[in-house]
Amino acid sequence: MNFQIIGTGSSHPACVKTNDDLAKLVDTSDEWITTRTGIRSRYISTGETLADLSCDAAQKALENAGVTPQELDLIICSTIRGDYMTPSLACIVQQRIGATCPAFDLNAACSGFVYSLDVAAGFFSRGTVKKVLIISAEMMSKMVDWNDRATCVLFGDGAGAAVLAEGDHLLSCKLTAQGDTELLYIPHVNGNSPFHDWPDEHPFLFMNGQGVYKFAVAAMERDVLDVVKQAGLTLDDITYLLPHQANLRIIETGRKKLGLSPEQVLTNIDKHGNISSACIPTLLDEQNRQGTFHKGDILVLCAFGGGLTTGACVLKW
Ligand code: UT7
Repeated sequence: MNFQIIGTGSSHPACVKTNDDLAKLVDTSDEWITTRTGIRSRYISTGETLADLSCDAAQKALENAGVTPQELDLIICSTIRGDYMTPSLACIVQQRIGATCPAFDLNAACSGFVYSLDVAAGFFSRGTVKKVLIISAEMMSKMVDWNDRATCVLFGDGAGAAVLAEGDHLLSCKLTAQGDTELLYIPHVNGNSPFHDWPDEHPFLFMNGQGVYKFAVAAMERDVLDVVKQAGLTLDDITYLLPHQANLRIIETGRKKLGLSPEQVLTNIDKHGNISSACIPTLLDEQNRQGTFHKGDILVLCAFGGGLTTGACVLKW
């Protein structure tokens, strides 16, 4: 026994920033960003909090599922950084939507949604939950250096959510971690202890783009092959692949290596950019609401990013 997804939701800030908008801030161009990444615009918070986006996504997912907040047995939020260090984002959402269940945050960076699904599967298999809400929410605009053209053009803000109920739709799952503080990191603010002598760090996201690119391309092919095999399926059984939306070139390279058609690989990077763990649930919600999925479809989710982490799974719709 694990789960089935019975509802999805997503939310993003109101403000859209195009590549041309960013070219007024840093030395970049629509042409560079589009051809190198596939991103055309992203949503950037001008005041919405992560809790605002998370609650909006959660309420849409609950409505879509026909589940009330009081029916929830667990809330998991995946986020790199909530609005507060404590309370967790999950606790804030729990209070604001009127739920009463346990709630906690999970940080697996871009792989957070797939990590959360697998954690939730453990609760279902122990029989301790019947309805679980997962929200992946990220405010990357608070963590990038807006003077650094190599990173600020890549990311966006948003939240995606899914409501899970008992079922057997998780056919396989694979999580990996390869601890690394060189290729991709975001330092914490150190506080103001008069006793510490830690060096002041540049408090923004750093990414060795080419290093992470190579890791991502290798991980995508390896993990998709592994989870499909683990599910007792072949690549021919895949209806749709929902990959992490970091770079359209990574997605295209992975797609070709796996021999999938362009129609099988779903993307929304053009209008969202990279929203870390919120990429996959946002994509899932958008496609769900467009009526893309049909009962019995085989969906493969595949994420990679900070940690370095990866997460992939096969879901029956
Ligand atoms: O979600 C977490 C996982 N993240 C990823 O998977 C991201 C993986 N990495 C990537 O997607 C790509 O490496 C990037 C999109 C980050 C960068 O693309 P790239 O083709 O690897 O570019 P590059 O870093 O090799 O830079 C090429 C050139 C450099 O100039 P020079 O040294 O050749 O003169 C950069 O300074 O492009 C320059 N550049 C830019 N130019 C215009 C870097 N950023 C920009 C920019 N606009 N925004």
